[in-house]
Amino acid sequence: MQPLLQIENLSVTFTTDEGLVPAVSNISLTLQRGQVLGLVGESGCGKSVTAMSILRLIPQPPGRITQGRILFEDQDLLKLPLEQLRAVRGRRIAIIFQEPMTALSPLHRIGAQLVEALRLHRDLSPKAAWDIATEWLAKVGIPDAPERMYAWPHQLSGGMRQRVMIAMAMMLEPDLLIADEPTTALDVTVQAQIFDLMRQLMQKDAGLLLITHDMGVIWEMCTQVAVMYASEVVETGPVEAVFKTPRHPYTKALLAAIPANAIPQQRLPAIPGQVPSHLALPLGCHFADRCTHVFEPCRTQHPPLFTAGDCCSRCFLNGGKA
Ligand SMILES: Nc1ncnc2c1ncn2[C@@H]1O[C@H](COP(=O)(O)OP(=O)(O)O)[C@@H](O)[C@H]1O
Ligand SMILES: [Mg+2]
Repeated sequence: MQPLLQIENLSVTFTTDEGLVPAVSNISLTLQRGQVLGLVGESGCGKSVTAMSILRLIPQPPGRITQGRILFEDQDLLKLPLEQLRAVRGRRIAIIFQEPMTALSPLHRIGAQLVEALRLHRDLSPKAAWDIATEWLAKVGIPDAPERMYAWPHQLSGGMRQRVMIAMAMMLEPDLLIADEPTTALDVTVQAQIFDLMRQLMQKDAGLLLITHDMGVIWEMCTQVAVMYASEVVETGPVEAVFKTPRHPYTKALLAAIPANAIPQQRLPAIPGQVPSHLALPLGCHFADRCTHVFEPCRTQHPPLFTAGDCCSRCFLNGGKA
């Protein structure tokens, strides 16, 4: 079956005053329709840059996609003429950003923005679009939705604005929804409501790329998981398999620190040591300095992704088939 989304060997760098920063190094991900792929890892590991690369939203410069292909069904999004890419954005692939204020125009009321987005992509009368938008505001848990349609973005709290952005992304029923820490600012009840809406979208055979730092969310929402560390994917596989038999010491450390009754929205647990600077990534394994299992090859050779069944991990402990 042709994947909905296939990222192949993607690398992204940023030019900074200190030098060239590899934000994302040679990552490959596959997402089928009906699946939810969770991308998890500590802050700064490259999750948002990966998400933004899909719709070519990386500011260039300072950013640059230096290699890779991003196939959306059979189209390479990195090669698509801008006009065609614009037709894909919103309607076929929608993205919910981490920082909502930047994505809403301060100059237009909420309702007008939602209606414009709907009518840009779908053949709807103003009245029909207004009704759908109002319905979506209610669905994402905004009280008094009919009145809120007239609100200006600055009149809403950060959490409310985030819900407007979620409504805007989901109301077009995209084939692929990319959600970058979509519920971090929301309380647990609203988070559950949003996750229900996402599950409904999945039942329509869409695909979801869900970025989170919360292993509890991965367990609750995702079918597949990719763990990122210092610009790389270090482990991938079906969620059940990875939780049952984590192979990379970083994944093990993340899982070991989840309390028995995982509290949603908890921050990633503290693992002793520090993530290396992307400006000076080690020659060998990026995790070597924090790893309790470090052995001879780890500091001199960079581990490839070793495959075991449906799972892959970038660790010499699992050496074998690369
Ligand atoms: N505009 C930028 N300029 C320079 N470096 C950047 C920029 N955006 C991201 N980076 C670098 O790319 C890396 C990955 O960032 P990001 O994808 O935002 O991490 P995450 O979403 O996992 O927290 C970081 O090391 C960060 O320093
Ligand atoms: Mg991020």
